[in-house]
Amino acid sequence: MFSDKDIAHFSKLETPFYYYDLKLLENTLNACNKAASAYKFHVHYAMKANFNPIVLKKIEEVGFGADCVSGGEVKKALEMGFAKEKVVFAGVGKSDKEINDALDNDIFCFNVESVQELSVINDLAEKKGKIAKIAIRINPNVDAHTHANITTGLDENKFGVNSWDMPACADVLNISPNLQFIGIHFHIGSQITNLDVYKNLCVRVNEFAAWFEDHGFKVTVLNVGGGLGIDYHHPNQQIPDFESYFKIFADFLAIKPYQEVHFELGRALVGQSASLISRVLYVKNGKKKNFIILDAGMTELMRPALYQAYHQIENLSQTSTEIVKYDVVGPICESTDCFGKEVQLPETFRNDLIAIRSAGAYGEVMASHYNLRENVQTVSSEKIAQCIS
Ligand code: LLP
Repeated sequence: MFSDKDIAHFSKLETPFYYYDLKLLENTLNACNKAASAYKFHVHYAMKANFNPIVLKKIEEVGFGADCVSGGEVKKALEMGFAKEKVVFAGVGKSDKEINDALDNDIFCFNVESVQELSVINDLAEKKGKIAKIAIRINPNVDAHTHANITTGLDENKFGVNSWDMPACADVLNISPNLQFIGIHFHIGSQITNLDVYKNLCVRVNEFAAWFEDHGFKVTVLNVGGGLGIDYHHPNQQIPDFESYFKIFADFLAIKPYQEVHFELGRALVGQSASLISRVLYVKNGKKKNFIILDAGMTELMRPALYQAYHQIENLSQTSTEIVKYDVVGPICESTDCFGKEVQLPETFRNDLIAIRSAGAYGEVMASHYNLRENVQTVSSEKIAQCIS
């Protein structure tokens, strides 16, 4: 929701830009922190969702850890002040350099995604005389009921170790003195809106934890990943229901007194707190279709082109109740460069400001320079408040 003052200020700025509502971000983080603390759950922020420094700073201040998927993310997390004891490193393809750097930085844990990776980390740790803490990422074959491109926990997905490979993991762990097994890790997919899916996950987590303990491995960390979705259709209902989400894990996981439960939330923490603000370059009224051509395209926000993702589109300059249907497109030379088809908007004109909502997660960080586009700019609510006052 934008105030008239915000919109007046936007109109003076060069577009396109990502607008970050830092108050909303703070409120979301505090709500999550409160709900997680009620059960003593640990939250690691999935940095891939957004690594803009102004966002990372707010998250670090709340005390969350960082879930990283590349050496670059590990480095950034440490630079931004995240405690190394709260940095976890996942990813199916960690390079030797990335593993070595993470070992040098004594991060909390590697989430290991294959049997072979266990041996590689053991060898590299041995050369450094270090013990690497590891959790096995298990592919639990649980359907997340989300878009096929963002589902990760099915047998056909590349992520994690399959259940039939658990004995092989145990064998490698038993002959790897430079590995310290601390637990198990899961992540079944993203933008999950049916919370029942997590009950199925809990059942599998309990089974795998029991399997490891039966085979002589103490499981102290149950990391259940992230994936909690946001309501893209109601960007003003902004804070996800963290209480119901965490309660499922409290109710359905068989947590032993010595076990910690870890989460890796990304989208739910940052998704609603940004909008992509763009200007209308041209309006083309046709016989069959009307087009609005924006100065932002798939190079600034790729999700609609890549996953046919829905983002609410609003005209911030017109308030008329007379509605016209438009295909809202960008300037990029690709037919998939479309933010929405047949979108109902007030009659729209050149230079109108358009907001594409719920763009805080996997938005700015997935921007590209395709067509030699320039870096997309960032504007924060704090900066605008300073300018207005
Ligand atoms: N943990 C792991 C191991 C992950 O792979 C992911 C996301 C997360 C945590 C955080 O998931 P979240 O809470 O944000 O759902 N670019 C896609 C989403 C890709 C998600 C990749 N993994 C999109 O724009 O929808």
